[in-house]
Amino acid sequence: MGAETQVGIIGAGPAGLMLSHLLHLQGIESVVLETRSRDYVEARVRAGVLEQGSADLLSSAGVGDRMRREGLVHDGIKLRFEGEEHRIDFRALTGRGITVYGQQEVVKDLIQRRLDDGGQIWFDTQATSIDGIEDHPGVSYCRDGKALRLSCDFIAGCDGSHGISNGGGESRTYERSYPFAWLGVLAKTPPATDELIYAYHDRGFALHSMRTPEISRLYLQVDADETMANWPEDRIWSELRLRLAEPHLQPGEIIEDGITPMRSLVIEPMQRGQLFLAGDAAHIVPATGAKGMNLALNDVRILAEGLSAWYRSGSRDQLDRYSEQCLRRIWRAEHFSAWMTGLLHRDQGGDPFEHKLRLSYLRYVTTSTAAATTLAENYVGYDQLDRRR
Ligand code: APR
Ligand code: PHB
Repeated sequence: MGAETQVGIIGAGPAGLMLSHLLHLQGIESVVLETRSRDYVEARVRAGVLEQGSADLLSSAGVGDRMRREGLVHDGIKLRFEGEEHRIDFRALTGRGITVYGQQEVVKDLIQRRLDDGGQIWFDTQATSIDGIEDHPGVSYCRDGKALRLSCDFIAGCDGSHGISNGGGESRTYERSYPFAWLGVLAKTPPATDELIYAYHDRGFALHSMRTPEISRLYLQVDADETMANWPEDRIWSELRLRLAEPHLQPGEIIEDGITPMRSLVIEPMQRGQLFLAGDAAHIVPATGAKGMNLALNDVRILAEGLSAWYRSGSRDQLDRYSEQCLRRIWRAEHFSAWMTGLLHRDQGGDPFEHKLRLSYLRYVTTSTAAATTLAENYVGYDQLDRRR
């Protein structure tokens, strides 16, 4: 026994929620299954940088009102190293900027809009397996202790990096791990800067980001096996002040903290039969380039177009090209994120030659317009298809 829908979506992160919304705009019905509660997903702190294309997508889909009111539009970033500060002016170099707006705010806005539109998001519902992906797809799920099955035409695996949808089949996984992680804190202290500061320091990388004029988001490079127990608040603040070289940063109440591993991963192809993977279920980037949410939103934009073409005309051409269409941008972001990570993090052994190479490249990127443009156009979002037009 169970229910039926057109598109069964596993996961209520930015990918699953935005897909459900975009499909609704095209008159296509979906059900989103989410293992966590609404409170949990709305409170989960993640990154918070929207490329201009992502911000435009939220606006054109009618879910950008709060982002436009509360999001912080930035025209560049600051790079600090060896006691110097340099600005990369995205606006001047590319004509585009970024919007700093927390991922969980995007998630809250999308949930509210789906519920206002009568959309079905089943929280506290764990997808346990998928089947029939060649002809009669279905998602088995567990809710209130009952095992049920949702029948659908298509399954969208938007269940993140620990989901169930991306196993099996002939897909190939490309991956890389890093010997360090990011310790992140969300703190009640006004940002000591008007733009993000990426700092390369002898003791490791640090990042000063923000959420609102009262709340800062701060990160420190730590070893991959580090635990929060080794990081009492005093140590976090003194290390941040040292690495960021920012005297105005004041300690504040830490609202949230955690350690996030750094990983790069791509699954190819991102589709099999009637199953389509999107977002972190198909690819992971280290957070240095702030690409995760942007890639997730771009995947589902393309998937929604393919699905609506299918429902409109019965043509599968666009759906068949889904993975190929997404992967160009994904690999560009994978390269950029790995490159930014390599440029800004101390390696574990502290190799002095690597250190000198990094400093030389940082100097190059902050003095050459060509090198700065490379960083800027990737940071604001580079799309080969846009360039061809
Ligand atoms: N059944 C139902 N839901 C599941 C299951 C399951 N078996 N497994 C995972 N989920 C849910 C998770 O609880 C989560 O809410 O899937 C959702 C996946 O959401 P995200 O992890 O936010 O992934 P995605 O929507 O692809 O967004 C990618 O998230 O991790 C960041 O940096 C990443 O910014 C990027 C963004
Ligand atoms: C964030 O604000 O959380 C953030 C910003 C930039 C990054 C990563 C995370 O590169």
